[in-house]
Amino acid sequence: MIPQNVAPILVMNTNTRRETGRKAQIANIQAAKAIAEIITTTLGPRSMLKMLMDPMGGIVMTNDGNAILREVDCNHPAAKSMIELARAQDEEVGDGTTSVIILAGEMMQMARPFIEREIHPTVIVNSYYKALEDCMTLIKECAVDIDINSDEDIKKALTSCVGTKFAARWGELVINLALHACRTIMKGVTNVNKLNLEIKRYAKVEKIPGGMMEECQVLDGVMLNKDVTHAGMRRMIKNPRVLLLDCTLEYKKAESQTSMNMSKESDMGDALQQEINEIASLCADIMKHKPDVVITEKGVSDLAQHFLMKENISVIRRVRKTDNNRIARVSGATIVTRPEEICEDDIGKDCGLFRISKIADEYFTYFLECKNPSACTILLRGGSKDSLNEMERNLQDALGVCRN
Ligand SMILES: Nc1ncnc2c1ncn2[C@@H]1O[C@H](COP(=O)(O)OP(=O)(O)OP(=O)(O)O)[C@@H](O)[C@H]1O
Ligand SMILES: [Mg+2]
Repeated sequence: MIPQNVAPILVMNTNTRRETGRKAQIANIQAAKAIAEIITTTLGPRSMLKMLMDPMGGIVMTNDGNAILREVDCNHPAAKSMIELARAQDEEVGDGTTSVIILAGEMMQMARPFIEREIHPTVIVNSYYKALEDCMTLIKECAVDIDINSDEDIKKALTSCVGTKFAARWGELVINLALHACRTIMKGVTNVNKLNLEIKRYAKVEKIPGGMMEECQVLDGVMLNKDVTHAGMRRMIKNPRVLLLDCTLEYKKAESQTSMNMSKESDMGDALQQEINEIASLCADIMKHKPDVVITEKGVSDLAQHFLMKENISVIRRVRKTDNNRIARVSGATIVTRPEEICEDDIGKDCGLFRISKIADEYFTYFLECKNPSACTILLRGGSKDSLNEMERNLQDALGVCRN
């Protein structure tokens, strides 16, 4: 027998709001519509930019659907899933995020009269599936083939992508940047049948505020926001021999706390001498191969800098892994983990010019004039940080379209 007067068992959190039936369906439609309405004015060639304030207080100025919706803070499940839709589109295709949301909003809206006429949702959903099939056949009829070897064809596709954007003001600038970058990365693809350009990995966008938009360019090499570790090292080398490392040039520190017991006065000196010897032998291994530039992902101790500088080697430290990979692709070097295992093939010789120059207050390292680069850096210049950010988003759209 069920006992009486027992408090009801709480399955759900007491704060949960639950909606059911018709009310929930209508609410979902309204939420989808509300999200779509946020960005209707940013669609198409006559679109307007939106100015948003992100939680950190920064300003986002854009007409990219995904970039706007990313900042929208909502707590309705249907609205959330609409925003997910924009994100998925952005990751898979790169462009068309606004269109997707507006189409989805309209589709939801269309279902409303049927719901009100008491037609069961599953029937409506089935009809949508039928419509999808019809769409697919229609799209196949409309589709035009593109020859990926023809710049003209690709530029046409890119024009319709960039034409609706802020960057359209500079005409073909962004189109040419995107095309050039994709063509560069394409050189590194060996299997032509499975063409998959890893844009995120091999095309890095660097923004430097200042200068003119017309100065934007695709470098035939890589640029890093770094300087040599010691001011006395060379900042300009023609045809450098490049050595890439991903180990530290410091003596190995113990993993956790270590204590050393010294019994004689000279022990301390011996211990320090041993550290120096370690570094000297590390540097000797490197110097044997006569590199002009040594780049490492980790640190370089003062002592190692001293040894390497005496041999006229420029050192750059704490380079990001991804940057190191790009340098490997432009210079033909292999990244080495243990200095004692360096061999002649690991040295990169494809790079024509190593140069460090100062823009505003920061130093930038360039690897330029590479023989057959399959990675690149896209350098964006422009008046303000906000316009640069929008420029970058436009460029990412264009790169996505170009890759597809
Ligand atoms: N010159 C044009 N004339 C008429 N319609 C155009 C023209 N150029 C683009 N469009 C239309 O504009 C729409 C694309 O707009 P827009 O680029 O603003 O949004 P999106 O590509 O959906 O999203 P995203 O913000 O990710 O770029 C497409 O429907 C496209 O057909
Ligand atoms: Mg677009």
